[in-house]
Amino acid sequence: MTSSTTPMTEGLPPLGSPEFAADPQRHYAWLREHAPVAQTRIDYGPVSQPVWVLARYQDCRAMLTDPRLPRSPGDGSAMATGLPEHIRMVSQESLIMKDGAEHKRLRALVAKPFTPKMIERLGERVRALATERLDALVGQDVLDLRQEYALPIPFTVIAEVVGVDEADRARFQLGVAAMLSDYEGTREDWDAKIRDLVDFVRELVARKRAEPAEDILTGLIQAEEDGDRLSEDELVAMVFTLIVAGYETTFNLITNAVVTLLDHPEDLARLREAPEDTALWRSAIEEIVRFAGPVGGTKPATAVEDITWYGQTVPAGSVVIPLLGSANRDPAVFDEPDRFDITRTPNHHLGFGHGQHFCLGASLARMEARVAVQVLLARHPAITLAVPRDELAFEPMPLWTRYQQLPVHLG
Ligand code: HEM
Repeated sequence: MTSSTTPMTEGLPPLGSPEFAADPQRHYAWLREHAPVAQTRIDYGPVSQPVWVLARYQDCRAMLTDPRLPRSPGDGSAMATGLPEHIRMVSQESLIMKDGAEHKRLRALVAKPFTPKMIERLGERVRALATERLDALVGQDVLDLRQEYALPIPFTVIAEVVGVDEADRARFQLGVAAMLSDYEGTREDWDAKIRDLVDFVRELVARKRAEPAEDILTGLIQAEEDGDRLSEDELVAMVFTLIVAGYETTFNLITNAVVTLLDHPEDLARLREAPEDTALWRSAIEEIVRFAGPVGGTKPATAVEDITWYGQTVPAGSVVIPLLGSANRDPAVFDEPDRFDITRTPNHHLGFGHGQHFCLGASLARMEARVAVQVLLARHPAITLAVPRDELAFEPMPLWTRYQQLPVHLG
């Protein structure tokens, strides 16, 4: 390594900028080699904040269990200070921003329903939803698979799991899309859309209190009423977390899976012939998460003391993010990390995080992606891209690997 870990890494475009999104892996490779601990900026919608990033696998993994790097010391990380109150609340009250006993309590409450039985039951639902979607697309020659297939399946799954009634889904989807993708409008527009979504979730909580149903939200409300103090804000934040964590991620995983398999036709052909619930499919999905996982970094941590890596001191109070997308291509851990290998074992990637915040929905996400891709390939074995490969572009979203669109001929 050279010691070019300067306080502000010169020449590195901010995370979230179009320049970074044009080729994240090139920037990750540069960081791993030259500046494994680097200071940069992260642009998120209207907010731009300085952050420190870690690019090497071992450092990323270690920081995710390092007590010097908790999620939310005091009144919240610097990342949240530029945000309006209603947005800060859903972020700060989420289990993803909590540590220790508080995190344990919230996680235990929400983890209960995520059993293997639930995943198995949902498998049939995902298959039915995928089939319905493809039925609805019959006759369309060219379509955006991201929008028309990858997105509605996990959206419906998470809406049903959480307990958003069908009549409310359109409003809900608009709000979620604004929160996650709409940076076109002014800062005020953005705030207003998020506020509407928070209001909607509050109304939903009130409704479930009045009319309990068989869903996670009702379960969380009842847990609260049994004496476990889940405050109103915590309930709202939990719903937000499940939606963002469960839908945004999974639809991008399905999209990225299709792109990656179209890029590797021999693997695609091999999988198409393989029985559906096999080790090969499971290792292929794991490799897709490593190679093209949608989540490029975790939520930020804040250093509670000065921490020195490679002679570079990160001062107490700094915001630090492990770059999971970089860790997963670290040649110190993965043989030929830029080679897509559906049989790769072991494959201890960090695509679902690590430590106490390891993705709660990992089994659900793996199953949804597997079934969605299987149903697609079984029905449309000759699927091809409808644009030249180099026209598929990533969205300039910090820490996400998501394509703007995925035009295909279903064949
Ligand atoms: C946490 C990735 C799907 C629920 C995480 C984390 C990652 C991740 C990297 C750690 C975040 C951090 O440490 O800051 C993914 C990916 C998915 C996916 C790549 C799909 C492709 C899901 C689904 C659900 C879910 C389907 C739920 C239905 C959660 C929750 C957390 C989490 C609740 C926070 C856990 C905690 O703080 O204890 N996920 N996720 N995720 N994920 Fe997922």
